[in-house]
Parts: sequence; C-alpha cells; structure tokens
Amino acid sequence: MKKAFYSAVLLSLLATGVLAQSKAVDATTVVPVKATVVASDGAIKSQNIMEVRPDADLTPGYATQTNAERSKVQPGNNAPIWRQVGAGVNGTSTLPVSEAPEAGNLIQPFVQYPGSRLTTAGEAWRQVRNNWIIPYGGALLLLVVVAIGLFFKAKGSIPLHGAETGKKIERFTYFERAAHWTNAIAFVILAVSGIIMAFGKFFLHPIIGATLFGWLTYALKNAHNFAGPVFAVSLIVVFATFLKDNLPKKEDLNWLLKGGGLFAGHEPTSHRFNAGEKVVFWGGVFFLGLIVVSSGLVLDKLVPGLIYERSTMQVAHMIHAVATVLMMAMFLGHIYLGTIGMDGAYKGMKTGYVDETWAKEHHGLWYDDIKNGKIPAQRTVPQSPTAGHPVQV
Ligand code: HEM
Repeated sequence: MKKAFYSAVLLSLLATGVLAQSKAVDATTVVPVKATVVASDGAIKSQNIMEVRPDADLTPGYATQTNAERSKVQPGNNAPIWRQVGAGVNGTSTLPVSEAPEAGNLIQPFVQYPGSRLTTAGEAWRQVRNNWIIPYGGALLLLVVVAIGLFFKAKGSIPLHGAETGKKIERFTYFERAAHWTNAIAFVILAVSGIIMAFGKFFLHPIIGATLFGWLTYALKNAHNFAGPVFAVSLIVVFATFLKDNLPKKEDLNWLLKGGGLFAGHEPTSHRFNAGEKVVFWGGVFFLGLIVVSSGLVLDKLVPGLIYERSTMQVAHMIHAVATVLMMAMFLGHIYLGTIGMDGAYKGMKTGYVDETWAKEHHGLWYDDIKNGKIPAQRTVPQSPTAGHPVQV
C-alpha cells in the first residue's frame, strides 16, 4: 500500500516536471511597450500598452546574436543567418550583377501582406499560382470545352443551306494563309506545352509517372520558349494582315445583337469578317495578344534593359498565366468554328478558296462587294494560266 502511495507521488512529480517543461517552451511574458495609437481626433500618440511575447524574445541578445554566438549555445542552429537573409541582407556572389541582380540574396525578404502571416514574396506568389490561377484557370478551360461539346451535340455543324455552285472565290491569299498557319501552329505548341506544364501534374503525372513527366515538361518548357517568339512575330504579321477587314462597321452591331444567329437560326449578313470574328481579333489577337506576348518576352528574358529580379518574373508569370488562359478560352471557340463547327470554313483557310454559296450565306455583304467589283475577286496572281483555282464570279 505504502509502495503504491510513493509510486503515485513519484509519478505525479514526474508529470508536473514534464508539464513544467512544456510550459517553459510555450511560456509567454507580458511586457510593457510603447505603441503608436491613433486617437479619436486623428492625432497620432505614443502610449504604454502591455504586449504578450514568447519568452524566447526576452532572451538577452537573442535577436541580435551572430551566427557564431548562436552556434555556441545551440550548435547547428543558423537562424541568425536566415534572419539576415530574410531581412534582405546580401552576401557575395561571383555571378555578374547585370545577369543575376539578386544572386547575393538566397531568398526574397520577408513581407507581411494584410491578413496573412509573415512570408516571402516567393511563397505568396506560389500561393496565388496554386490556389487561384491553377484551379480557376483550369475550371474555366474545362467549362469552355464542355460548353462547346454540348453546343456541338445539340446543334451540330453550321450547315450550308444552299447547294454549292462550284464557282470559287478567293478568300485568303497565300501570304495570309502562311501567316495564319504559322501563328496557329505556334499557338498550338504553346497551348499544349503550357497546359501540360500548368495542369499536367493532375492528369498526366499519375499516368506516366514522375520520371517521364519530368523529362516531358523539361522538353515542353524548351519548346514553349522557342515557339513563343515565333508566335509573337507571326501575331504581328497576322494583326497587320487582317487589320483592315476587322475595322468595325455599322452592320456589326446588328450581328452582335442577334448573337450571330447562333441560337436563333438565321445568320445576320456581314462583310468579309463578321462581328464575332472582330471580337476575337480585337480581344484575342490584339488585346490579349499584346499582354501574352509582352509578359512572355519578359519571362524569356528577351526585353533589353529590364532588370530581371525574382519579383519581375513573379509578376510577369501571373499576368502571363491569366492572359493565356483567357486567350485559350477565346481561341477554343475560334478553333471550333474554324474546324468542326462550320461547314466549309476550314477549307477556306486551307485552300484559300470558298464556294460562292458559302460566301453568300456567311458573308453576304462581302460577296455583294465582289459581285459589284468593289473588291477584287482574285488577289493572288496565278503562276501559269492553268495554275490556281478558276475564278468565275
Ligand atoms: C489552331 C487552330 C486554328 C484554326 C483551325 C483556325 C482556323 C481558322 C479559319 C478556318 C479561319 C477562316 C475564317 C473565315 O473564313 O472567316 C481563320 C481565320 C482567322 N484566324 Fe484562325 N485558326 C486557328 C488559330 C488561330 C490563331 C492562334 C490565331 C491568332 C492568334 C488565329 C487568327 C485568325 C484570324 C485573325 C483570322 C481572320 C479572321 C478574323 O480576323 O477573325 N487563328 N482561322
């Protein structure tokens, strides 16, 4: 009985000791400090308040210890170095400052964003990428694909109502098609590589495994970096080539108000390009194109004179990612209508020629202008009398 009593006392003493130890670790102390407060009359005053601090902060010299001092009391703890690094103190590096302006600093300085804990800008960027851009961007793209799929299932391809006449009209010159397809091929390389780099870890990584996925994304990153400048240059050519016929005309309003007849059936008449194509041209090619290309050139470090700090790349990346997702969403619609969504459209961009019936049904005002001799029916000069397509308007 006595033995049991002493054992119980010993155990409770031990437990108290353990509790005391853990309390020592978590212990806090209330200390008086001066705080700046804003009084009701707007004046800024200094006032004594009590602040709760972890005990560690009260250790004399703790926050100002050098790494050598700290390693004496806690060998292996190099917190002082990281505190300095986080505070923006630079070390030395043999890399040229012009090429690596932040090479002397291991991590970006700590910052405190409103409502968030102390973090580095790099971590904040990672959070924005992983918690906002990737899920919402991926959801938007999926939504557009599903919407197009449902639309196609319900409506099918937009058919040609009249019979083909066999008479051809030149819709795109050789130069226009070369510019368009160069740009389109670069776009597809960029879109596929971009999608796999951003979203591949969710749908491809589990299937092909880490090693193959690593090599694939490495190869695609290089393909992306090379296709980018090709896309940029061909986009400027496409913009200049199609600018004139994408200028707004008064008939565009009617086309837009009727939604292009996509849902009501009858397609409103239009000039060479309809209002939908003009929206893609100004919104996708010009506006988003400008943002995507300029942010992409920053990411490729191709803008001369710019200082490529980490923050430069983080901001450029976020802008690039948002704009490219919007651009892909927009061009998915363009690609759909340019392939399976509309009979005869793809043939026009492939061969350069469309049937008269196609021109009359989809771009009636353009057809009328050709018939009236306002615009030439044939702009490409055939290389020989038998070469090229017969023009019979
Ligand atoms: C990748 C697949 C693509 C396909 C299959 C495709 C298909 C087509 C087709 C069939 C046309 C002719 C439409 C008509 O006759 O009115 C066309 C026109 C056009 N495409 Fe594409 N395209 C693609 C990508 C792109 C890209 C990436 C861009 C630019 C970023 C682009 C810009 C244009 C422009 C500017 C026109 C002239 C009509 C307009 O101004 O909207 N296309 N495309």
